[in-house]
Amino acid sequence: MPTKLANSSHGGVTTDPRIHQILERSCYTCHSTTGTAPWYAALSPAYMAAGSARQALNFSDWSTYDAHHQQTQLKSIESTINNGSMPPGNYTVLDHSARLSNAEKQALRAWLATQISSGPQ
Ligand code: HEC
Repeated sequence: MPTKLANSSHGGVTTDPRIHQILERSCYTCHSTTGTAPWYAALSPAYMAAGSARQALNFSDWSTYDAHHQQTQLKSIESTINNGSMPPGNYTVLDHSARLSNAEKQALRAWLATQISSGPQ
């Protein structure tokens, strides 16, 4: 599958290729309109719920989110990374490659820190 960078010029979630790669591998399967899972992982309950996952957060629609909604989503992403709830455990048992390594979590946290504005919204 060709890797294409999410429309970096107009408001994709990130222009950083490393971050993009991590999100694409571990999150886009359920949180984008383009993601596909390996057949065995597609059997996990969380993947079956991917419709609701995309309602909660859809990276494909990122550029249509307003600034406030983007901030809310970034904070929500940060907490799922910090508490380890995403990608869901019942999915990563089936697709180990989606698991986030500590280095990847750190990279995501560092990126989120640059994206989340600390001031009041
Ligand atoms: C196997 C499918 C799947 C993958 C992979 C996945 N998610 Fe989710 N995600 C879900 C589902 C399903 C929901 C809705 C869950 C709910 O409402 O309980 C969700 C909800 C969320 C939410 C909304 C907040 C919340 O806790 O309900 C955020 C933020 C999120 N995911 C971030 C991520 C990030 C970041 C990644 C990658 C590191 C990721 N997800 C990978 C299935 C997935």
